[in-house]
Amino acid sequence: MKDLVIVGCGGFGREVEDVVDAINQEQPTWRVLGYVDDAPSDVNAALVSRRGSQLLGSVDEVLAHREPAHFVVGIGRADFRRAVDARFREAGWEPATLIHPTVTIGADVVVGDGSVICAGVRITTNVRLGYSNHINLNTTIGHDVVAGDFVSINPLVAVSGWVEIGDDVLLGTQCCVLQGLSLGHGSTAGAGSCVVKDVPAATVVKGVPAR
Ligand SMILES: CC(C)(COP(=O)(O)OP(=O)(O)OC[C@H]1O[C@@H](n2cnc3c(N)ncnc32)[C@H](O)[C@@H]1OP(=O)(O)O)[C@@H](O)C(=O)NCCC(=O)NCCS
Repeated sequence: MKDLVIVGCGGFGREVEDVVDAINQEQPTWRVLGYVDDAPSDVNAALVSRRGSQLLGSVDEVLAHREPAHFVVGIGRADFRRAVDARFREAGWEPATLIHPTVTIGADVVVGDGSVICAGVRITTNVRLGYSNHINLNTTIGHDVVAGDFVSINPLVAVSGWVEIGDDVLLGTQCCVLQGLSLGHGSTAGAGSCVVKDVPAATVVKGVPAR
């Protein structure tokens, strides 16, 4: 069993532990030491304990007092995720890649280190996902998609074939992206949107068709 800490005890951080639990049910792999969080709310702290886990302290405390092990960052915001990821890697910790056992993955697919792929995701063929991607429940990713680093794809998104997704992109829940389009660095497609044109960097689009 490999020791693992989950950084961030918010909603997605706690969902990450479900992915770990499912992996462990198939094949005992990870021993979750607990959650690292600089400012856990009382609500989140209580929810961590209700699911039988524990808070270990802040990033500073954990990096100062624990031997390097594996870590996964369960923080949605790409800029926070990138910053905290850098601190752990600089301190010699190894990113864990977590793929729920119900995920289906076709031939010639690369999932970047530090990524979390949640239950029910379907990834077809010749796909490249970058470092620390969060692919949330029941999303589909079609053939030849290329995604950068720190991408967040919320539940039930449909990414069509040959789509290029830049670093730090957020796709809101139930959005769909038509084939062959690109989403620039740091862009966002809102929940429920249908992306029908390329999205420039650092741009938010929403609606059907997305504007
Ligand atoms: C698109 C999004 C990024 C916009 O965020 P924002 O800029 O803070 O937007 P605001 O909440 O200030 O809303 C601005 C306007 O856009 C509208 N709007 C917000 N989100 C929208 C969406 N997804 N689709 C259509 N319109 C939307 C609001 O109703 C508001 O309209 P108004 O000016 O006529 O009142 C955000 O709403 C979104 O969809 N995020 C993804 C959320 C998600 O996936 N959640 C699941 C988590 S697992």
